Amino acid sequence: MGLNARNPSPFWILKGARTGPIDKVRTVLRGLLQRFGTVNFKRQLWNQEYGRGSWNCLDTMTGDCVYPYAERYVKNGCILDLGCGPGAVGNELNASAYDSYIGVDISDVAIEKARRRTTENHRTGKNHYFQGDILSYVPKGQYDVILFGDSIYYFRPQRTAEMLTRYSKYLKPDGALIVRSWVTHHRSRAIIRNIERDFDVVEKHLYHESQIVVIVFQPPASRRAALRLAAGA
Ligand SMILES: C[S@@+](CC[C@H](N)C(=O)[O-])C[C@H]1O[C@@H](n2cnc3c(N)ncnc32)[C@H](O)[C@@H]1O
Repeated sequence: MGLNARNPSPFWILKGARTGPIDKVRTVLRGLLQRFGTVNFKRQLWNQEYGRGSWNCLDTMTGDCVYPYAERYVKNGCILDLGCGPGAVGNELNASAYDSYIGVDISDVAIEKARRRTTENHRTGKNHYFQGDILSYVPKGQYDVILFGDSIYYFRPQRTAEMLTRYSKYLKPDGALIVRSWVTHHRSRAIIRNIERDFDVVEKHLYHESQIVVIVFQPPASRRAALRLAAGA
């Protein structure tokens, strides 16, 4: 079916009722577009969803299970939040727990919301946001915490593994990667298994009747030693 005046957006098929077999097709299609679409396509898809309020549930995440880990491991330093959405983490973490925060998201609609909330919250001095694709974003500097908050499963498995290894090079010598993820789908469980295989897990905890995992991990000791050497520590 082609586009027409009633369905002007290429994403019209992803809208509408959320029940029955059509919904299942939509969910599968959406997942495929998120993993295999072009950067521009993914950006438009997320912008559309944020624009029509599908993700309003992310505006406030008071007391989220990942916050105590982010606050503990950031050690008053710097945090990089990949797939930051509309700014909950950067505005709800205890402001005295960190020195600087960078949020990156593919959706400029989400980034705009995050910036607005940051201004209202008087955190413009320490929080900064960038629109970009996690797969190609190049961080500036080294971080104490690199966080993926429900943003780890939008990539092909091979790309996810490469991406985590690439980002681990932007950790400070004692820094940690933190993933918060739903584990109700076999794909996200496979990602967590791969993390456990490829990295040193510092801690891992389950929440919400084991539907959500928070896993804190670091590069293997040999790679950490190389990172320390490179940092002159
Ligand atoms: C489920 S939301 C989670 C948002 C936020 N981290 C939170 O916990 O509330 C997933 C976020 O990942 C972002 N995202 C998905 N694919 C991305 C990509 N390739 N690059 C950057 N951000 C991406 C989406 O725009 C969305 O804001």
